[in-house]
Amino acid sequence: MRIFLDTANIDQIRHAAKLGIISGVTTNPTLVAREEAVDFKAAILEICSLVPGPVSAEVLSLEPEGMIEEARQLSSWAPNIVVKIPVSEAGLEAVSVLSRENIKTNLTLCFSVNQALLGALVGATYVSPFVGRLDDIGHQGMEVVAEAVEIFHHYALSTQVIAASLRHPLHIIAAAKAGAHIATVPYNVLMQMIRHPLTDIGITRFAEDWKKVAKK
Ligand code: E4P
Repeated sequence: MRIFLDTANIDQIRHAAKLGIISGVTTNPTLVAREEAVDFKAAILEICSLVPGPVSAEVLSLEPEGMIEEARQLSSWAPNIVVKIPVSEAGLEAVSVLSRENIKTNLTLCFSVNQALLGALVGATYVSPFVGRLDDIGHQGMEVVAEAVEIFHHYALSTQVIAASLRHPLHIIAAAKAGAHIATVPYNVLMQMIRHPLTDIGITRFAEDWKKVAKK
């Protein structure tokens, strides 16, 4: 399972990219709006320069024609841009046109296996089930990931499943066990994945013990 970073924060992306962990980035309008820089294009281009892998940037139009036009624009900015499009009739129509133009898409706001399957059938490069938001309303969000992965594998569909809306480290383990191709992870969760108090204690103890050897 590959890990993408789920943020539009340049410092976070720069740090995670330096660690060599992430192979892509996902943004959405909420994540972009959270940042001080308001120049959307400049922000996306900077992210694309920091991460060689796929960078998802979302359309704002609600009609297929507008989505398609925005997607063509977005995808012309950098070779690694993936156009994020919400699941809807308009979104599916747009993805089906864009896939024929070889424009990479990420079908977002997926909350059901049916939505994910339709995304794969219209040629989405990725589909993103929102695990945390389903959990929030009392559903088992990861089941959508697991069932989509199983169905795509069964029919040899090339669409990849991005487990999205992940909120804590256990979500990442569950996504990996469910067979997600990718988990898109918030920065704070990525840091939680790295750290363990016993590792910190162990490092301190090794250093202290080594100082004793040096004194001998
Ligand atoms: C990523 O593609 C999604 O936009 C993101 O994971 C949504 O996360 P949230 O449900 O925590 O807002």
